[in-house]
Amino acid sequence: MLNFEFKNPTKIIFGKGQIAKLSAEIPAGSKVMLLYGGGSIKSNGVYDQVMQALNNYEVIEFSGIPANPEYSILLQALEIIRSKEISFLLAVGGGSVIDGVKFLSSAALYEGKEPWDILAQSIRTEKGMPFGTVLTLPATGSEMNSGAVISRAETKEKLSMGGPGLFPVFSIMDPEVVRSIPTRQIANGIMDAYSHVLEQYMTYPAGALLQDRIAESILQTLVEIAPRIMKDPADYIAASNFMWSCTMALNGLIQKGVPTDWAVHAMGHELTALYGIDHARTLAIITPGHFLYNFDRKKDKLAQYAERIWNVREGTTEQKAMAAIEKTEAFFHSLGIETKLSKYTSSFEDTANIIANRFTERGWTKLGEHKDLGPDQVKEIVEMSY
Ligand code: NZQ
Ligand code: ZN
Repeated sequence: MLNFEFKNPTKIIFGKGQIAKLSAEIPAGSKVMLLYGGGSIKSNGVYDQVMQALNNYEVIEFSGIPANPEYSILLQALEIIRSKEISFLLAVGGGSVIDGVKFLSSAALYEGKEPWDILAQSIRTEKGMPFGTVLTLPATGSEMNSGAVISRAETKEKLSMGGPGLFPVFSIMDPEVVRSIPTRQIANGIMDAYSHVLEQYMTYPAGALLQDRIAESILQTLVEIAPRIMKDPADYIAASNFMWSCTMALNGLIQKGVPTDWAVHAMGHELTALYGIDHARTLAIITPGHFLYNFDRKKDKLAQYAERIWNVREGTTEQKAMAAIEKTEAFFHSLGIETKLSKYTSSFEDTANIIANRFTERGWTKLGEHKDLGPDQVKEIVEMSY
């Protein structure tokens, strides 16, 4: 096991009816900005619950944060935060709204001229404006981590940011919100969380027996609840396990003491930036080719995963590892998710070159758990996804 430090300060308030506890978590007298997306919270009752809980606060609303939170829209919110002297941010939504609020938390205290530099120059946020979240869509784990991903339509970029100042102060997670989520987004949530575990698990054996078992238990739980929650999002047992699995997949715990990959996400983000493909689906497109391309280096973990998640008992390490890739792709298909880029766009031919060139420009030459995948390897992996 590798050395590690672990600190996660986010308070989780989990369960039915817990949105009412909001007011106990936000300092009295705060001037609150409530931020949300395109309006799903208005039709499913979450907005009313939040407003009722906030009736003792001065609240300013900012709506319209889109999926893949857009920089130019966030700048409008930043103006209001400054002019109205907001002191607490409350994100009510999925990963996009929460990530948008993380950007604002950082940008509100940033002293540089152009807030995009936080992303373009990878400036770590040591301290941000305090914010909390009410999660409406299990998927990203953003409710309990300190990372965010922001898009900029003008330049077709999608870049990450983070730092210890960007953990939510609290996150309220009521699994009853899952009942209004469309099937497509439920599938995305399962897919994204599954990929988060794979990025931190499908590397090479590092003697981290407990981390492996925790990671495997999240994968097993997602596989078990996937058909239930896809069929009936009002199934509370499935919804609560779905929600907690997504959080546990990316709250920092399973990455401690182990090597991590994250190359699939790096390539996937480019597919969203270029073609607007849902984040989760980009991961399904890249994963099979990535595992095949890096087969020899990942085969021991692939075989362990084949045995423990998919009950593959027969064959050599290589055969089990190959079965693992097939079972994984079949699982993505069972969620209704296509795994080839050509199923999402007809103009894919130049994609690998474009992505490889972008990685060259940014100096991204050390991807993957061995930190040795550069633009040439990325080009081949992306080509395998066509
Ligand atoms: O905007 P509204 O109307 O609210 O509709 C949203 C949105 O259209 C809808 N939705 C959310 N909760 C709902 C609901 N509809 C009905 N009922 C509910 N309860 O779902 C749509 C998608 O929402 P979005 O927030 O975009 O989805 P998700 O949570 O999957 O977030 C994706 C974003 O997170 C980033 C992705 O790149 C992408 O930008 N990620 C963030 C990470 C992080 N911060 O740690 C890690 C991830 O790897 C990922 O990159
Ligand atoms: Zn993800």
